[in-house]
Amino acid sequence: MALFTQLLVLHLYLISAVLSQVTEFISIDCGSTSNYTDPSTGLGWSSDMDIMKYGKLVQVENPNGNWMQYRTRRDFPSDNKKYCYNLSTKERRRYLVRATFLYGSPENEDAYPKFELYLDATEWATVIIQDASRIYVHEMIIRAPSDSIDVCTCCATTGSPFISTLELRPLNLSMYATDYEDNFFLDVAARVNFGALTKDVVRYPDDPYDRIWESDLDRRQNFLVDVAPGTERIRTSKNIDTRTREYPPVKVMQTAVVGTEGELSYRLNLEGFPANARAYAFFAEIEDLAPDETRKFRLREPYVPDYSNAVVNIAENANGSYRLYEPSYMNVSLNFVLSFMFSKTNDSTRGPLLNAIEISKYQQIAAKTDRRDVTALNAIRYMSAENIWANEGGDPCVPAPWEWVHCSSTPPPRITKIALSGQNLEGQIPTEFNHMQGLTELWLDSNSLTGSLPDMSSLINLKIVHLENNKLTGPLPSYLGRLPNLKELYIQNNSFSGEIPPLLLSRKIIFNYEGNPGLHNEAQRKMHFKLILGTSIGVLAVLLVLFLGSLILLRNLRRKMSHRKCDENGNSLHTSTKPSTANSVARGGHLLDEGVAYYIPLSELEEATNNFTKKIGKGSFGSVYYGKMKDGKEVAVKTMGDSSSHLNKQFVTEVALLSRIHHRNLVPLIGYCEEAHQRILVYEYMHNGTLRDHIHGSVNQKPLDWLARLQIAEDAAKGLEYLHTGCSPSIIHRDVKTSNILLDINMRAKVSDFGLSRQAEEDLTHVSSVARGTVGYLDPEYYASQQLTEKSDVYSFGVVLLELISGKKPVSVEDFGAELNIVHWARSLIRKGDVISIVDPFLVGNVKIESIWRIAEVAVQCVEQHGYSRPRMQEIILAIQDAIKIEKGNEGNPKLAPGSSRGQSSRKTLLASFLEIESPDLSKDCLVPSAR
Ligand SMILES: *[C@@H]1O[C@H](CO)[C@@H](O)[C@H](O)[C@H]1NC(C)=O
Ligand SMILES: *[C@@H]1O[C@H](CO)[C@@H](O)[C@H](O)[C@H]1NC(C)=O
Ligand SMILES: *[C@@H]1O[C@H](CO)[C@@H](O)[C@H](O)[C@H]1NC(C)=O
Ligand SMILES: *[C@@H]1O[C@H](CO)[C@@H](O)[C@H](O)[C@H]1NC(C)=O
Ligand SMILES: *[C@@H]1O[C@H](CO)[C@@H](O)[C@H](O)[C@H]1NC(C)=O
Ligand SMILES: *[C@@H]1O[C@H](CO)[C@@H](O)[C@H](O)[C@H]1NC(C)=O
Repeated sequence: MALFTQLLVLHLYLISAVLSQVTEFISIDCGSTSNYTDPSTGLGWSSDMDIMKYGKLVQVENPNGNWMQYRTRRDFPSDNKKYCYNLSTKERRRYLVRATFLYGSPENEDAYPKFELYLDATEWATVIIQDASRIYVHEMIIRAPSDSIDVCTCCATTGSPFISTLELRPLNLSMYATDYEDNFFLDVAARVNFGALTKDVVRYPDDPYDRIWESDLDRRQNFLVDVAPGTERIRTSKNIDTRTREYPPVKVMQTAVVGTEGELSYRLNLEGFPANARAYAFFAEIEDLAPDETRKFRLREPYVPDYSNAVVNIAENANGSYRLYEPSYMNVSLNFVLSFMFSKTNDSTRGPLLNAIEISKYQQIAAKTDRRDVTALNAIRYMSAENIWANEGGDPCVPAPWEWVHCSSTPPPRITKIALSGQNLEGQIPTEFNHMQGLTELWLDSNSLTGSLPDMSSLINLKIVHLENNKLTGPLPSYLGRLPNLKELYIQNNSFSGEIPPLLLSRKIIFNYEGNPGLHNEAQRKMHFKLILGTSIGVLAVLLVLFLGSLILLRNLRRKMSHRKCDENGNSLHTSTKPSTANSVARGGHLLDEGVAYYIPLSELEEATNNFTKKIGKGSFGSVYYGKMKDGKEVAVKTMGDSSSHLNKQFVTEVALLSRIHHRNLVPLIGYCEEAHQRILVYEYMHNGTLRDHIHGSVNQKPLDWLARLQIAEDAAKGLEYLHTGCSPSIIHRDVKTSNILLDINMRAKVSDFGLSRQAEEDLTHVSSVARGTVGYLDPEYYASQQLTEKSDVYSFGVVLLELISGKKPVSVEDFGAELNIVHWARSLIRKGDVISIVDPFLVGNVKIESIWRIAEVAVQCVEQHGYSRPRMQEIILAIQDAIKIEKGNEGNPKLAPGSSRGQSSRKTLLASFLEIESPDLSKDCLVPSAR
């Protein structure tokens, strides 16, 4: 009974998981007039009436029985425009996008349509209808580049473009992640279910992600031919554990083909190839082999050295029968005709087996029109009362430009011409126009535009400007005379006023300004010449005085600035400063800037620390003690045990540096002492200790939640950014780590310990002999080359971010096994899209996964091999702020489910399989399974 209840609960859980997925499906039945639920699948379909204004509905003779979504299609005009559906997505989430095409019985058989399909600006497919009764399916797997995508048809060469359905299926986070997804979509070329029971496809609800698995019994031309003799179909009704990476449906894994004579071969055509592809094979042993039996085989064709040498041993790789083994090629070059063959090895008793394959082509993501141009166009296109032309969807330039714009042909496209003469535009010319630097022609004449001309001084390519017959007012801005390429300017019949910029009149351009009663032209200017001359001299005199005055002011200011170069966003700290008297600290021959850190006598410190009794930590050079000054201020007193000349220099360096640096995210130096062979630095006391204590649990309290971690990361990043860019010359910390990030009483973070800091400039000329830093945080490039840059701090900070996500230490045999360090371990998982496996178990269930993704991705960039590929601190700060926004926002993003059975166990298998995949020494005896 208990078992029964358990099963029931499990069942309910699964149903609810599936349902939650389904509510995010978008299923559009193009040409349908009503919304409905398809009883055979339970999926809701919606009409496209509200979202598509163009084209016409066409009833389709539907030979595909009960699939309701194929009763209608939508036909678009056969012109040179594009017709686009706009689907909303979550940025960076992965989706399956599917467009299908069933033409039905045509009236005119020789005009079968042929046209182009686009996803945003990216060419997706040429749709060619050859069989009116076949459903043509095009699937693209994408990581959404923004919060919406456009699916467009255009450019018919025969017939007119049409579409039957458009479907959007969100995928689970780690599915279909590739190393190339920043630049490539995956265009699905084949997804085949071998040993299928019928000719029907398998899809939702058998596949919760509604992928379409084609049957190998499909008899269309050239689909799976050259089948090896002795190929048999096998099936099982037992459950199969498919929890690997792509979660194929159990139903597809329950059938397979086996080569009983030792070989398994097929040939099929791959549309759109030759190309680079991602290819998967799905193997699950579904026969019960006797203990002395084995099934081992190799890939013989296509011959890829690493892979073809490897032996597939399903039972070994999947750790048993009825479990999926899912090897893949991350990037393989394939031809239009794909022949593949598996052959059994000599010592195997059984022939090869295959359950399914999936092959996708890498499709380079094409550049969309420059964002600034799109913003400007959007600003003007809704300024018209009758704006049919303004409703054209998709990208302004690709695949076909909007009717009223011209575009440059080099990617990313820029707008070169706006043609909106006589379109009833009302309102002011948008200020956003000033960012359209590609613009050469602007036609806004014969509208009802009002207001004055905005700043368009950046439009240096402008040649022809038509603004005549509007209601524009105000002066003619002087930049008009300075536009270097201006050839024609028409402003007649407006209400401009004031002086015409003299440059406009003196240049050889066509300039028509009739019908602006308020404008003073040159003739008038001449008449008033004397008056103007008189005024000008007066003005000049005033200007001269002003100019001299400001020069003096500037000099004074500069002088002040040069003393406080690092002081901008910093807090002004010390009012009670006292210049060091006898002990003035010299460095490189220069006196330390006066002020700021003040000299504290040893006796005062002995009193404050109760004779150095309360030790609170260990810095790079000595112990750190707690103290309380006479005025009640709590301090951390850092002593330096030894006073060798090296340390002496270090001490001097540190004081010199610290006294120049004030920022709210850097631990402030209060004072110093150099007396009786004692060298002591006195810092503000940080009540909450180090970040290390908080994430690695040596503090007896609740671990930090995600938002707190993000806040700390942002603070620390700002501190570092200030060191890198706020000071001149810039400063490299050289020892960024969690124990150098301190937390004040409000849990705000400050970066500490500049003991190892050096000014960047110094190291450009000096190559230091030892790489300094802490194991686990040390930039490998710096270690190898000894060339220190800010990017070394970025690397270390990347490690800190990974610690914040995972709660793990940077180096640990226990946690990372052979990979040893957090960077290799986390990077391989993140690159596969599996961020779940690295998240600190404490956070699971209390965090938005998209927020973690944002940090994970920037962290991986930070620990790139080469410094030049790493982001700057400024970019990291932006990423952290993004993540904070996502985490705070409550749009109901998916949260990580705590302890869900599937989550937990898949985490283990994922991890296990990745470790296997990534380790380099596997190539000999077992198939190098995947992914890189
Ligand atoms: C169909 O459903 C969509 C939402 O999915 C809604 O916006 C639209 O108004 C509905 N159309 C009809 C005809 O009911
Ligand atoms: C795949 O490999 C080829 C050849 O090594 C390379 O040129 C290409 O950039 C890689 N990635 C993709 C997505 O094609
Ligand atoms: C293989 O399976 C056995 C039992 O099913 C289990 O004890 C063992 O840990 C598994 N090995 C791996 C590497 O998962
Ligand atoms: C397997 O057998 C074939 C023919 O029987 C032979 O040519 C080949 O060398 C054998 N391979 C191995 C690895 O023993
Ligand atoms: C698509 O829809 C989104 C909102 O879902 C909107 O912000 C965007 O402007 C639309 N794109 C076009 C080209 O209409
Ligand atoms: C996504 O995958 C996780 C485990 O990786 C699982 O717990 C969750 O149910 C999946 N979500 C859906 C909607 O399938």
